Amino acid sequence: MTVRPTATRAALLQVDAIVTRLTGRAALAEVCRFLRASFPHYRWVGVYRREGETLVLDAWDGDQATEHTRIPVAKGVCGRAVREAATVIVDDVRSAPEYLACFLETRSEIVVPVFDAGVVTGEIDIDGTTVGAYDASDRVFLESVAARLTGPVGAAGREPPGDAGAARSSAAPPR
Ligand code: SME
Repeated sequence: MTVRPTATRAALLQVDAIVTRLTGRAALAEVCRFLRASFPHYRWVGVYRREGETLVLDAWDGDQATEHTRIPVAKGVCGRAVREAATVIVDDVRSAPEYLACFLETRSEIVVPVFDAGVVTGEIDIDGTTVGAYDASDRVFLESVAARLTGPVGAAGREPPGDAGAARSSAAPPR
């Protein structure tokens, strides 16, 4: 799906405001909530932080929790984005052998690395319910979002571990 430049410019200003107002997991959770609320094809939005060879889910927003709160860098579409240090778009998860299933209705996925001084420190992971939900416009936009998450991801790593490693925004109470 194409995200329009007018929408993405406004959204990036909102992300700037969020990361100015909040830090760490609170900022990540709010960015997840904002992205999902603003772009209907972003059906589940999470941020994983890299701890050595493991990706730890720090924040998410969606209809359901995922069982994949810790993912080895060696596995999954999430791990692939770290190993390749590049955005990965999977048009149809049924034809991606490395795909780790979280939700029955997921058909496509985009994973966008967060970098700090050229090193992958985390990633944005988004699931969609239609085949081919994400294109280059999503990639460009989400790479700009990811560039704004370097600070919050670093700060999240200095916070005490959260319950199940994940903070959820939205209506759910803080955990
Ligand atoms: N599908 C991901 C796992 C994370 S869930 O989508 C939330 C993967 O293949 O790495």
